[in-house]
Amino acid sequence: MKKLRLVLAGLGARGHAWADTIQRNPDCDLICYVDPDPTSLEQAQHRFGNQPSFASLTEALETIEDIDATILATPPDSREMDIAAACKHRLPLLVEKPLALNLELAIDYVQQAEKAGIPLMIGLNFRYLPVTQKYRRLLEKDAAGQLGFCRFTYERWRNGHAQRLNRYPISMLQPMLWEQSIHHFDLMRFVYQREAVAVYCRSWNPSWTMYADDTNVSALFEFEGGFEINYQGTWVGGWQELNFEWRTDGSNGVIVQRDMFGDLYQAKRMDKELTPVELPPSEPWVTDLSSLLTAFLQASQGAPIECSGKDHLGSLAMVEACIQSAREGRRIKIDQPAKI
Ligand SMILES: NC(=O)c1ccc[n+]([C@@H]2O[C@H](COP(=O)([O-])OP(=O)(O)OC[C@H]3O[C@@H](n4cnc5c(N)ncnc54)[C@H](O)[C@@H]3O)[C@@H](O)[C@H]2O)c1
Repeated sequence: MKKLRLVLAGLGARGHAWADTIQRNPDCDLICYVDPDPTSLEQAQHRFGNQPSFASLTEALETIEDIDATILATPPDSREMDIAAACKHRLPLLVEKPLALNLELAIDYVQQAEKAGIPLMIGLNFRYLPVTQKYRRLLEKDAAGQLGFCRFTYERWRNGHAQRLNRYPISMLQPMLWEQSIHHFDLMRFVYQREAVAVYCRSWNPSWTMYADDTNVSALFEFEGGFEINYQGTWVGGWQELNFEWRTDGSNGVIVQRDMFGDLYQAKRMDKELTPVELPPSEPWVTDLSSLLTAFLQASQGAPIECSGKDHLGSLAMVEACIQSAREGRRIKIDQPAKI
């Protein structure tokens, strides 16, 4: 495989994780940085080396000729110019989730990339965790029998003012759904290999929230095949310890994940206890991001595209349907945008 030369745009919290991952991968080089904030550029140069830096992606692509691919780790509300620039230069593109803050714009980005003939991938690192891969394989082998229903719980105290975290979610609309639940909805679609067809959702903010808009989401999803999912997520839980639990019930057993990065179990109906499922070793945030990068490098050289922008539209449609349902207080049908 050719060693690819990458440009990284957006050097905030996520950009640093990407720079670190690129530097540890022998199949690519980080050629230059892009960020309009001079402090972010200085910090990146100090930590990752003195590569050329630019205030905009357009400027970088017009100055440096032999770039092979782009990673966009910028906030999701302002990507129009950068996506157009990458398409103009026909550069494979990996964009952080969520691709956009509305489905219509995301569809436009997907169509631009298709027209330019470039791979467009989304930063869905959780798909690459061994626990996610194993969960999917167990279901493929009917380990729980015929799928019936699921409970997905994510309860977190997220201090939106913490130094290591981005700030924009504090003032954005529906931060929990766009920034966090989008990962969970993607995991559901990936693991069950089915699409959501309808949702009834409530979203709200408890009195002690530090966020301007809703941090709590309760949603009842109907998936294809009559499969039902009861989802609850919060960023302002009453306890600082994260609680993650994802249980799938089938006609003949259950599969239970009790930690975001591992802790997988299964049981048949009459078992007295859950049986732990063995998983290969992995390092949270490292193994998953390096596997995502490898998939992107391969897609940039002609391999099939994983986590494609087109596939991601199904998760964005779930978010939009939740918002509409919460606003209108009724069940919302979900159309399949991936079929556009
Ligand atoms: N997959 C994950 O687990 C994960 C984790 C964290 C963040 N993210 C995603 O990564 C993206 C960035 O989040 P973050 O936490 O790094 O935010 P951040 O606010 O910490 O950093 C964003 C950086 O982008 C820069 N920027 C803004 N517009 C730019 C542009 N046009 N070109 C270049 N740089 C620009 C800002 O100056 C800032 O330095 C978001 O979409 C977020 O949802 C994903």
